[in-house]
Amino acid sequence: MPDRRKQGVFISLEGLDGVGKSTQFDRLCRALEARGWPVFTVREPGGTAIGEKVRSIVLDPANHEMAPAAEALLYAASRAQLVEERIRPALAQGKLVLADRYVDSSLAYQGRGLGLGVGAVREVNGFATGGLLPDLTLLLDADPDRAMDHLTSARSSDRIERRGPDYRRDVRREYLALAEADPDRLKVIDAGRGIDEVHQDVLSAVLEFLKTRGRGVRA
Ligand SMILES: Nc1ncnc2c1ncn2[C@@H]1O[C@H](COP(=O)(O)OP(=O)(O)OP(=O)(O)O)[C@@H](O)[C@H]1O
Ligand SMILES: [Mg+2]
Repeated sequence: MPDRRKQGVFISLEGLDGVGKSTQFDRLCRALEARGWPVFTVREPGGTAIGEKVRSIVLDPANHEMAPAAEALLYAASRAQLVEERIRPALAQGKLVLADRYVDSSLAYQGRGLGLGVGAVREVNGFATGGLLPDLTLLLDADPDRAMDHLTSARSSDRIERRGPDYRRDVRREYLALAEADPDRLKVIDAGRGIDEVHQDVLSAVLEFLKTRGRGVRA
């Protein structure tokens, strides 16, 4: 259920590992700031002192014995802290909050990918966030194997990234199913193109959203 108390705008970026979220996040942030929007950025997992500690536990390849439910709850715990400490205060100040991943990541990676069930993970996250969902979510969609190619050359992979191609295909399928079920909130962007082309689509989707549904937060 939408949270009526907030005054700002909440936008998240989603997609598989290596699909270009952080690249587009930075570009979008700069483009919106240049247009005078008061942008406030957060990243997941982490984004707070407590959340960063949780992040290191979740991503550490040494933690191979982690139970799927424990993984889902750790992500939810990090998110609960992020919402309480950073996102809600920023929204209350009328900021445009940009999140690099949010609840949809858990629905796709843990709910579907780990087989915990999307409904169960949604419930846990509803509790963690007090029901706070983004106003707009941009789903960067691309072939999972190509997205991973970007990553492997850049740095060593974390615990989640080490999961196989079947896992990533399941995650992508769930992301697309979420977008199909809620097309008002989730917009699919073809991320299998050059960075500039993807950026143009990301920015257009956001500006279109702000034009039709924004609530006068522009500074
Ligand atoms: N459209 C693109 N075409 C080619 N390379 C790209 C594109 N977008 C990003 N890259 C490159 O791919 C790599 C991964 O990009 P980025 O870190 O933005 O992905 P990410 O989705 O944030 O990954 P993660 O989920 O691991 O945080 C980077 O080296 C980046 O420069
Ligand atoms: Mg990233």
